[in-house]
Amino acid sequence: MNILGIETSCDETSGAVLCDGQVCSNVVSSQRCHTHFGGVVPELASREHERLIVSIVDAAVTESNITKNELDVIAATAGPGLIGAVMVGLCFAQGMAYALKIPFVPVNHIEAHIFSPFIDEGRSQPPPEGAFVSLTVSGGHTLLSMVSQDLSYKVIGRTLDDAAGEAFDKTGKMLGLPYPAGPVIDRLAERGDPAFHQFPRALTSQSQTSKSYHGNFDFSFSGLKTSVRTWLQKQTPEFIEIHKADIAASIQDAIVSVLVEKTISAARSHHVKSVSIAGGVSANSALRKIMQEACDKAGIRLHVPGVVYSTDNAAMIATLAGLKLSRGGRAEHRYNIAPYASFAAGARYA
Ligand code: KG4
Ligand code: ZN
Repeated sequence: MNILGIETSCDETSGAVLCDGQVCSNVVSSQRCHTHFGGVVPELASREHERLIVSIVDAAVTESNITKNELDVIAATAGPGLIGAVMVGLCFAQGMAYALKIPFVPVNHIEAHIFSPFIDEGRSQPPPEGAFVSLTVSGGHTLLSMVSQDLSYKVIGRTLDDAAGEAFDKTGKMLGLPYPAGPVIDRLAERGDPAFHQFPRALTSQSQTSKSYHGNFDFSFSGLKTSVRTWLQKQTPEFIEIHKADIAASIQDAIVSVLVEKTISAARSHHVKSVSIAGGVSANSALRKIMQEACDKAGIRLHVPGVVYSTDNAAMIATLAGLKLSRGGRAEHRYNIAPYASFAAGARYA
């Protein structure tokens, strides 16, 4: 089965072709127009998707060495995301499926992230040993979920305020770094000292009594943001410049240590043998390293997506559509699926 996937929920325009479960192409174009705004400008994002969607989809089909007429299904992100941005890919995908007279499958972007670690392992199947805990960390979401073999999942923890990616991006902006600051902090931190300054770690064993902490898998990053801002205000510009790498490493350590502690604690309390990380922040090298060490210590298997499948991409959209179809899901000749902005709306929709 040949599936074309399309992703336009935020600032990546992407098309991918999955042929019998294998990724044959995955073309991703990241928008550069937001760099100096310190965040994604929704109107600009929609316009950029509109400008690029035809050439990206054409490139994905050409690279896969099949023709459009050999496509069996088209899948696209229906949400959550920036509504105008989602609409560009969703309308394009449904129009193309209608013209080719093939079925269309709407995909929830966050669910696609959850299953992205299994693309790279060649089999596009969740781990055989049963349920696993997924940490999904992106620019807009931070979720801990219990995921079952039948592809259903239950959210057991989420951020109460900012997402982990937002924490990277907003604190990075305070340091004068361009958007998205996550990858820049990652690179800077390689030559910094994570123990240079201890920023707060909210809702963890360090910040709460063991009684109120136990079994709480929610996150909070807004206190970190405030703490970084007030701390930076007390430093001179020269000091900040000299210690930029140390500050980046300290911020990164505050975010990563919370993500690791909560994930391992969730895996232990739910007695699972596997955990996975996914979403843009799962590209972070310290998160990958520290999570691997913690999993090794706890005797837990860690599933990590290839870096290209961590950040937004259409291969994960086509992969989840393929997984659902292989488990008896239906692909319909229905081309009136509406976009949704919030995760909750998407979950209800599914
Ligand atoms: O999943 P994603 O590509 O888009 C959303 O669905 O939001 O995630 C984007 C987020 C941004 O906040 C970006 O700064 C962060 O992922 N990110 C990283 C790294 N690469 C991307 N954060 C930390 N370290 C990285 N290497
Ligand atoms: Zn994403």
